Amino acid sequence: MNHSKDQLDKLIKAIKIVKNYLFSHIKDKISSINIYTHLDADGLSAGAILGKALYREGIPFQITVLRQLEKEEIAKISKNIEEFNNFLIFSDFGSGQFLELQKEFLKKNFNSFIILDHHIPQNVPSKKDIDLIMKIYKDTLQWHVNPYFFGINGSLEISGAGLCYYFAKSLNEKNIDLSTIAIVGAIGDIQNQGPNKSFSGINSLILRDAKDSGFIEVISDLNFSSIKPLNEAIAYSKEINLPGLTNDVNRSLIFLQTLGILMENSKGKIRTLNDLNQDEKQKVSSAIIEYASVKLDIEPSKIVEKLIINRYLIKNEVIGSELHDADEFSNLLNACGRMNSASLGIAIAMGDRKIAYQKSQDILIDYKKILMRSLTWIYDNQKIQQKEYIQYFFGEDIIPENIIGTITSMLIFENLENIDKSKPIFGFAKREDENIYKVSGRAHEKIVKKGVNLSQAIRDACALSNLDVLGGGHPPAAGTKIPVESVEIFLENCNAAIQKQLQGR
Ligand code: C5P
Ligand code: C5P
Ligand code: ZN
Repeated sequence: MNHSKDQLDKLIKAIKIVKNYLFSHIKDKISSINIYTHLDADGLSAGAILGKALYREGIPFQITVLRQLEKEEIAKISKNIEEFNNFLIFSDFGSGQFLELQKEFLKKNFNSFIILDHHIPQNVPSKKDIDLIMKIYKDTLQWHVNPYFFGINGSLEISGAGLCYYFAKSLNEKNIDLSTIAIVGAIGDIQNQGPNKSFSGINSLILRDAKDSGFIEVISDLNFSSIKPLNEAIAYSKEINLPGLTNDVNRSLIFLQTLGILMENSKGKIRTLNDLNQDEKQKVSSAIIEYASVKLDIEPSKIVEKLIINRYLIKNEVIGSELHDADEFSNLLNACGRMNSASLGIAIAMGDRKIAYQKSQDILIDYKKILMRSLTWIYDNQKIQQKEYIQYFFGEDIIPENIIGTITSMLIFENLENIDKSKPIFGFAKREDENIYKVSGRAHEKIVKKGVNLSQAIRDACALSNLDVLGGGHPPAAGTKIPVESVEIFLENCNAAIQKQLQGR
C-alpha cells in the first residue's frame, strides 16, 4: 500500500500540472470545455465524473462519446477547432493516439487539450519499455497523464474513470463522492482481479476513499447475480460451473428447496440473493461447497476462491436496483454505451434516477437479448475458426461493431463451455457502409501471464500488414480496425505475433 501511496502522490502532482494547464488555457475562452470519452462503462464513468466536477465548478462543458479515437475522428475534431475554439479533454482514450493528436493539432497551432488515459501510449510496445515511457512522460507532462509514467499498471491498478476521479478531486475535495463512479468504471474494465474480486494498487485507494466517506460498503457475498431469481442466478452463472445445476433452472430450484430455504417471497416470486438473510446465504454456500467437493471432486479451497466475492454496494442507491451493486451498475452503463444510448449512461452516472434510468431498463433487456442471440449463433453455427496460435470469428450480419468486444470478452472471460482459453480470440465485425472490419482481441489471464500482450500483437500485426491505422489497448484486451481486403494477412500476422510472444522472441 505504501508503494501505491508513493505512486499516487506522483500521479496527483502530475494531475495538478495538467489542471493548471487547463486553467491557464480556459482563462480567455468563453466557449465550453469539450470532453471526448470512450463508449464503454469505464469511458462513460470517466466522462460523467468530469462532467459532474466541471458542473460543480460552474464551468460549461459538453460530452461527446466515441466508439474509438480513430484517425478520422481526430481529423473531424481538428476541423471543428478553428470554428469553435473549445478546450478539449480526452478521457479513457488519447494515450494510444497522443502522437496523432499532437500531429493533427500542431498543424493548426492548437494546444488547448489534455489527455487523462490509462492505455499504453502510442508507439510503446509494452509497459517494460521504461526508457521510452519516461521519454514520453517528459515530453508530454504538461498535458498528458498516464499511469504507466509512474510504474502504475493501467490495465489493473487504475481505470480511465479513476484518473478522472483524481482530476475531479484536484478541482475540489468535495468530489470524493465520485469515487463510487470511479469504482464502477474500474469494474467495467474488469480491474477487480485480485483474490475474491478485490482491487489492487491505486484502485484500492479509491475504494478506501469510497468506504471511509460512507459511499460504498463492501460485503463478502456469493458470486451469483444479486438481483436475479436465485435458481436462475445459479443456473446461468457466468463464472461458476456446477454440472447438474448449470443451465438447469429447475434442478437449481430443487437444490435450494432441499436446503429448507423458502424460495418464494410473499408475492409468489422466486427470491434473489438480495432477499436472503445471512443464515440462508451461509446454508447455500455450505451446500454448494459440499456439492462441488463431494459430487464434482473439486478441492474446497478452489471453490471458495470463486464462490465468495467482494460485492461493492453503493449505499445511497435503492436496494435491489442495479445501481446498488457496482457490478450491475457498470453492466447497465455498458448496455447504454453499446446500444447507441451513451447519453443515457452518462446521465445515469451523473445522477439521473428518473427519465434516463427508466429508459435504460428497456435498453438493458435488448442488450441481454442481443448478447444471448450472438453467442447462441456462434455456438450453433460453429463460427470460431482456428490457426495455430490464435482463434477468430466473423460477426457477419449478426454481431454489430459496438458489441463485438463484449462478445469476445464473454467468450474468453466467462464460464462458457467448448471454448479454448489457451489461445487469444479475435472477433471481426463489418462496419456498416464502410469497407472496414472492427477487430476486438481478448486473451485469458493464464496466457497473458505466459507473455501474451494483445496491445503489442495488434500493433505489430498492423505494422507487418502495412496498415496505417491506430490500434492497441491492454495486454488482455485490445482492438483496431482494418480494411476488409487485409483480413487474411492481418490474421496471419496476428498468429505470427502471438507465436513470437509465446516463444519469447
Ligand atoms: O478502453 P478500455 O480500457 O476502457 O476498455 C477495456 C475493455 O476491455 C473493456 O471493455 C473491458 O470490458 C475489456 N476487458 C476485458 N477483460 C480484461 C480487461 C479488459 O474484457 N481482463
Ligand atoms: O473495442 P474493444 O472493446 O475491443 O477494445 C479493447 C481495448 O482496446 C480497449 O481498451 C480499447 O480502448 C482499446 N482499443 C484501442 N484502439 C483501438 C481499438 C481498441 O486502444 N483502435
Ligand atoms: Zn478504460
